[in-house]
Amino acid sequence: MDLLLAALPGEGLPALADSLAAAYGIEAQALEVDLAEAAGLGLLIEEAGRLVRAPVLLVNNAGRGENGAFDTMPVEAHRGTVALNIEATVTLTHALIPILARAAPARIITVASLAAFQPMPLFSIYAASKAFLKSWGLALAEELAPLGITSTVLAPGGIYTNEEVRRKVEAQGLVGRWSTQEPSEVALAALRGAERGRTLVIPGPFNRLVALLSSLAPDALKARAVHARWKWALARTAGPGFAGNRAK
Ligand SMILES: NC(=O)c1ccc[n+]([C@@H]2O[C@H](COP(=O)([O-])OP(=O)(O)OC[C@H]3O[C@@H](n4cnc5c(N)ncnc54)[C@H](OP(=O)(O)O)[C@@H]3O)[C@@H](O)[C@H]2O)c1
Repeated sequence: MDLLLAALPGEGLPALADSLAAAYGIEAQALEVDLAEAAGLGLLIEEAGRLVRAPVLLVNNAGRGENGAFDTMPVEAHRGTVALNIEATVTLTHALIPILARAAPARIITVASLAAFQPMPLFSIYAASKAFLKSWGLALAEELAPLGITSTVLAPGGIYTNEEVRRKVEAQGLVGRWSTQEPSEVALAALRGAERGRTLVIPGPFNRLVALLSSLAPDALKARAVHARWKWALARTAGPGFAGNRAK
């Protein structure tokens, strides 16, 4: 299908759009914008409204998150995560629902994470933002059904999307490797799930088992276990100077 792609400036998006257009004989438009800024988000909404052929799929993928102890990290980092993961996703989706409804049947895929299933000390804002997206996306599925729009929440474990992920996966040993997949596998699971109208897609049997066990355990216990695990894993990647690796 034709694509309107958005990502930050200077990351090679126009070249990617051109190569996709050439490879698949589609129209692919690149919009280099910062979605955490009102101006950038506004530009994307405007551009989506101008599309000649109304879009039938919205993929809420852009997201960020940084590891560290909540109080020692700059508050701007937390605000940036909330602005992109939550505010931009909610604003964009709200603006596009009328356009998607006109083109119905249409689909929304929101990229959450397995992190949505438990509180995560040393990754607290990221995990909370993904829990927000999971709850919100599942609620939307119900609300939007009469409009002919499906809402699918994607909750992947790890995805080998960049070098930082690779380092973290290696630091987590076997469990990290079991839960991490290639982007193509995750994307295929998301598209298949959305096509079938599934409301929650967790790619990979190991990740589905983790989500099941997680749903049975109390939140406070999960928070303690995750804290111990992250402290250990992050000290291995970032060294003892890591902000979350305090004595107390
Ligand atoms: N990788 C994992 O292990 C993993 C696991 C579970 C869930 N996820 C989720 O999967 C999604 C994609 O993550 P990723 O691993 O591919 O991360 P990534 O490599 O950092 O890519 C993030 C994507 O979001 C875009 N983006 C980031 N900040 C933006 C901003 N302010 N304005 C516009 N676009 C922005 C990036 O654009 P640029 O290319 O221009 O930087 C990039 O396309 C995220 O929602 C993430 O939380 C990832």
